[in-house]
Amino acid sequence: MLKLGQITLDMPFFQAPLSGYTDGAMCSLSRKFGAPLTFAGVALAKSVIHPAVRKKLINSPDSYTRPVGAQILGSEPKVMAAAAVELEKIGYDIIDLNFACPVPKVLRRGRGGFLMQKPDIVKQIYQQVRNEVKCPVTIKLRAGFDSSRESKDNLMQICADADDATVDAVTIHGRTVTQRYSKKANWLIIADIKKIFPRLTVIGSGDLLSGQTAFEAFNASGVDGVLIARGAIGNPWIFEELRALFEGRGTITAPTIAEQGAIMLEHFEMISKSRPAGKAVGYFRKFAASYCKRHRQRKQAQADLMAATTSQQVISAIEKWY
Ligand SMILES: Cc1cc2nc3c(=O)[nH]c(=O)nc-3n(C[C@H](O)[C@H](O)[C@H](O)COP(=O)(O)O)c2cc1C
Repeated sequence: MLKLGQITLDMPFFQAPLSGYTDGAMCSLSRKFGAPLTFAGVALAKSVIHPAVRKKLINSPDSYTRPVGAQILGSEPKVMAAAAVELEKIGYDIIDLNFACPVPKVLRRGRGGFLMQKPDIVKQIYQQVRNEVKCPVTIKLRAGFDSSRESKDNLMQICADADDATVDAVTIHGRTVTQRYSKKANWLIIADIKKIFPRLTVIGSGDLLSGQTAFEAFNASGVDGVLIARGAIGNPWIFEELRALFEGRGTITAPTIAEQGAIMLEHFEMISKSRPAGKAVGYFRKFAASYCKRHRQRKQAQADLMAATTSQQVISAIEKWY
C-alpha cells in the first residue's frame, strides 16, 4: 500500500510522467497490467493557465484511466498555484511539481532542476499550490543540482522543509541535475533521505528497468514506493511482474510472443484513434523499438517496424514478427 494524501494505492509503485510518452494509450496499458496510478507528461504552468493553450496542449484526464496525476513545471509560485487549480478543476487526481527536469532550456529559465538550488522558492511554490488545491500534492526532485557539498545541503533543506507534511510525497531521482542520465542512479542518497526523514513519504526513482530491480531497490532502500519510468516504455508487463513480486507470487511467466504482438496492436490502435494517421505511425516507432527488445530476432523485427510508413504496414510488420 502507498498513501499519497487522501489517495491510497494498493501497491507501492506507479508509472512516472515521461514527456512525449505518457499519453492515454501508454497509461491505459500500464493500468491494465497493474499500475495503480499513472502520470501524464509534464506541462508548463504558464501554458496551463491560458484557456486556449490549455485546450490545445493538455489532455483531458478522461483520456486516462483514473486516478491520473498531472505534473507542472514553472518558477513562479503564483503561476504554479493557478495552474494546479486548473488541472484539479478539469479532473486530475494528483498534482506533482517538477523540480527535476535537467533540460538546458528549462534550467536557463529558472525552472525544473534549476530550483534544486533554491530551497526557499521550492517551499514557496508547494505552499502556494497546497493552499489552492485539495488533491494530493507531491514534488519531484533530483539527488541535488550537482555533486557539490552545497547541493547536498540544498537537497537536505528541501526535504527538511517538506517534512512538515505540506507535501504528500517526495519523489527523488537518484541522479543530480548536471548528471542528467549519465552514470548509475545513487540509491544510497535516496535511502539516506528516508532514514533521516522517516515521516516523509519517499518515492525512489532511477534505473528501475525490470520488476525484479524495482522490487529489490524498494526492499534495500526502505522507501515508501518506487517510480517506474523508462522500464515501462513498450513494457507494460513490468507492472504485472511487480504486482506478483509484492504479492509474494514470485517471478511470473514472461508474455508469449503472441501476447506481446496483441498488446502492440492494441497500443497502436489506441494511438491511431487519438492522432491523425500520418502522425500515429511515426509516434508509435519509439514504443515499437522498446517492444522489440524482448524479441529474439530484435534487429530484424525492429527494422521492419521502423521502415513502416503506413498504418497497414505497421500492422503487417507486427503480424509478421509476432
Ligand atoms: C523520455 C523521458 C521523459 C521524461 N519525462 C519526465 C517528465 O515529464 N517529468 C519528470 O518528472 N520526469 C521525467 N523523466 C524522468 C523519469 O520520470 C525518471 O525519474 C527517470 O527516467 C529515472 O528513472 P529510470 O532510470 O527508471 O528511467 C523522463 C525521463 C525520460 C527518459
